[in-house]
Amino acid sequence: MDKRIVVTRTVPESAVEVLREAGAVHVCSQDGPLSVPELHDAVRGAHAIVTMLHDRVDAELVAAAGPQLQVVANVAVGYDNIDVPAVTERGVTVTNTPGVLVDATADLAFGLLLMVTRRLGEGERLLRAREPWTFHLGFMLGTGLQGKTLGIVGLGDIGQAVARRARAFGMNIAYTGRRRAPVEVETELDARHLPLEELLRTADVVSLHCPLTEQTRHLIDAAALSAMKPTAFLVNTSRGPVVDEKALAEALHEGRIAGAALDVFEHEPAVEPALLELDNVAIAPHLGSATVETRTAMAELAARNVAAVLRGAEPITPVG
Ligand code: DGY
Repeated sequence: MDKRIVVTRTVPESAVEVLREAGAVHVCSQDGPLSVPELHDAVRGAHAIVTMLHDRVDAELVAAAGPQLQVVANVAVGYDNIDVPAVTERGVTVTNTPGVLVDATADLAFGLLLMVTRRLGEGERLLRAREPWTFHLGFMLGTGLQGKTLGIVGLGDIGQAVARRARAFGMNIAYTGRRRAPVEVETELDARHLPLEELLRTADVVSLHCPLTEQTRHLIDAAALSAMKPTAFLVNTSRGPVVDEKALAEALHEGRIAGAALDVFEHEPAVEPALLELDNVAIAPHLGSATVETRTAMAELAARNVAAVLRGAEPITPVG
């Protein structure tokens, strides 16, 4: 009998084709995320589940699927939606999609960085509002990047890719993280390792590239924001809850930092209303990996992980 593979939301056809080779595929094609009861209902009898970052994957989901469940393949590099110990201790393999989204996410982070430092959103809003304007030397001045310091929180693959882009813009690199980066990486990027407090105190732009864990939840809170320079910018393309959004809105409102660029939100898809009122905030709806090429590669990698596990081979990119 064919193995049952449930995909919780539409994925590119090339990934479905890979999955069809491995079993009977059911793609949930509703418009939005499934509610928890809908999700539990959909996965009943599944041997494999392809999940999205908004699907809660925990012991209850595994129980709802049943004892035949073999693999949960998340179509994201981040897996804070998954209670990995609870799932793996029930004998279910968990996989994610590292690597394939590094450049797309770094491009987006750097795009947002430019957007906020050069006030591009503000400029576009002015024109779209048909406000009068003329060129003059003091008009809508932004902040240059050359010679400034980019402080990276989490110098993993994406953090390093952002640092390479920043080096090309003439920026200096500092980073913080649980572990020191390999010496070749530090040398290539001329990156200084700093404690978080010092990085916050000295960086001109702080860019977040750490996973969301209990240790990083609200890592950037009111105190961290107060430690930053009033001329500094914050960029977040990691996970929303790494930043206390209310504290950020207050810090921006009071001019305690110069601006923020956010691709992710604490209560996604909701955005803290106070942030929407502020001109010194650039925002995007979680577009980090959103290119045709990257999203296709992510879905295909998840599908290949499913196929590997269902045929009894090692998963390609396991978690935990
Ligand atoms: C991820 O993969 O974790 C991103 O946030 C979505 O592409």
